[in-house]
Amino acid sequence: MEEVNTGRRYAEKLDEKDPLAEFRNRYIVPDDVVYLDGNSLGLISVDAEECLDRVVDEWKELGIKGWKDAEIPWIWYGERLGDMTAPLIGAEEDEVVVSNCTTVNIHTLIGTFYDPFKGSKKIIVDELDFPTDHYAIKAQMKLKGIDPEENLIVVESRDGRTIDEEDVVDRMGEDVAIVFLPSVLYRSGQLLDIEYITEEAHKRDILAGFDLAHSIGVCPHKLDEWEVDFAVWCNYKYLNSGPGAIAGLYVNEKHFDSMPALAGWWGHEKSTQFDMNLDFTPAEHSGAWQIGTIPILSSAPLEGSLRIIREAGVDRIRKKSVRLTSYLISLVDKLLKDEPYNFRVGTPRDAENRGGHVAIERDKEAYRINRAMINRSFITDFRPPNIIRVCPSPLYTRYVDVWRFIDNLKEVVQTEEYEKFEQESEEIVY
Ligand SMILES: Cc1ncc(COP(=O)(O)O)c(C=O)c1O
Repeated sequence: MEEVNTGRRYAEKLDEKDPLAEFRNRYIVPDDVVYLDGNSLGLISVDAEECLDRVVDEWKELGIKGWKDAEIPWIWYGERLGDMTAPLIGAEEDEVVVSNCTTVNIHTLIGTFYDPFKGSKKIIVDELDFPTDHYAIKAQMKLKGIDPEENLIVVESRDGRTIDEEDVVDRMGEDVAIVFLPSVLYRSGQLLDIEYITEEAHKRDILAGFDLAHSIGVCPHKLDEWEVDFAVWCNYKYLNSGPGAIAGLYVNEKHFDSMPALAGWWGHEKSTQFDMNLDFTPAEHSGAWQIGTIPILSSAPLEGSLRIIREAGVDRIRKKSVRLTSYLISLVDKLLKDEPYNFRVGTPRDAENRGGHVAIERDKEAYRINRAMINRSFITDFRPPNIIRVCPSPLYTRYVDVWRFIDNLKEVVQTEEYEKFEQESEEIVY
């Protein structure tokens, strides 16, 4: 990116030249709000609402017949939404399905691929992971009679923000069965080198799985080319599919003959599913890792959302995301680094090593400053101990929104407006 000018007009010019600017009109952006939390919960789009309305109409008109006669027969909805997702992550259609929530998908995939009785008992994770990943993996270890205290290898961060891929590789000993890591760390926004980690894991007969929650829809992936074994993700972040929307999973086709750990009738081979046989015959593709009936109403918004993302193209989305985050980082550096602001950027500066959000750190008062910003209708989130996460989600965030955020942040600190807010709060922090 060229030298950044800190004036508002510069941001407006970037918006005028933005090839994705029109996509903002497809989203329902609340009035007077600058929404910078799309890495937590993305905004609804007109297309998502349209698909949800259509499915509700199908329910009204077709009742149970919707399972076969809906525009996309509901019985295949998980698979068809998987087909639409596949190009975003460089996978074949058969390798992707939407189902369950991310935590359950970790349970079923770790449960499937973790076989300590074959020999290797250890699983590698890192200390900056989103907690649910550890909860699920430890639970799966315990279910197999393995002590997580001894067998979960937690790679430490050198700086409290990032994970060095070499430290992961160093822990890949003979006793390791699986390495399971996030694509993008949820706090600092570091993007890990999935290809390198997978390659190094495979050299040692270790399986490589990833949690793509913070990258899908904003960073392109080539899971097949990189030979990743399995992956999971949330659809409510950059895929804008609504609170608690159905999640997704990827299983490399070389593993299609594996038996799903959490078998359920929705993963049964479809043509005989309704024969009601008491023996489970898994589908011969990723659909086998579905468990129970797909929640159609929590899946429909994803259809509309994927329509937009595919139209915009994930490569173009990534390009804009990098420009937005680079612009944001430059403004922090130029305007907010020194007294009395004292902010610093905790996200890797090299665009290749970061996802779609930026962590702005401040040793003191980050919590109350974030409250003050929300009070001014700038929706960001706070992550303890000192991080304000800012996500300029590329399809509905303008450069001028970033500029206004920085301008307001400056004012909140200058005027000490944050002092009006409680230090600690009982409120749930989202
Ligand atoms: C990296 C990561 N994994 C998993 C989850 C939670 O997934 P779910 O609640 O859908 O199980 C989150 C939620 O924010 C997350 O950030």
